Amino acid sequence: MSNEPIDLAAALRTFEDLWSPRVVTQVNDYDVRIAKVAGEFVWHSHEDTDEFFLVLDGELGIGLRDADGERVVTLQPGSVFVVPRGVEHRPFSQDGASILLFEPTGTSNVGDQHEQVPDHITPTTGHALEPRS
Ligand code: NI
Repeated sequence: MSNEPIDLAAALRTFEDLWSPRVVTQVNDYDVRIAKVAGEFVWHSHEDTDEFFLVLDGELGIGLRDADGERVVTLQPGSVFVVPRGVEHRPFSQDGASILLFEPTGTSNVGDQHEQVPDHITPTTGHALEPRS
């Protein structure tokens, strides 16, 4: 974990792959992760943890399925949203977005329950942020 300030814009420039979170720092037993996203993720849920989203750039939609049915929330840069534990959700971004996630270390991006994972998505608990060479 870095003890220097972390420039998120610079960190975002160190990778291009989509739906592949980088762990930028940790807070107690939580990761602060950043990711680039475009297109659709998979429907999934996290049984034991809420999931915090902050949009850094672009527009992010999150489909939600809960007891009230299915709905979509749309987040602009600077907007945050928390998906409660156990709620099925599917992030998507038609034109691409950069997001920050805050969730317990070890949390899988595809959750505990998910539909079949397509080829463009790799299940991960987050990758280390590599210094730019
Ligand atoms: Ni999730």
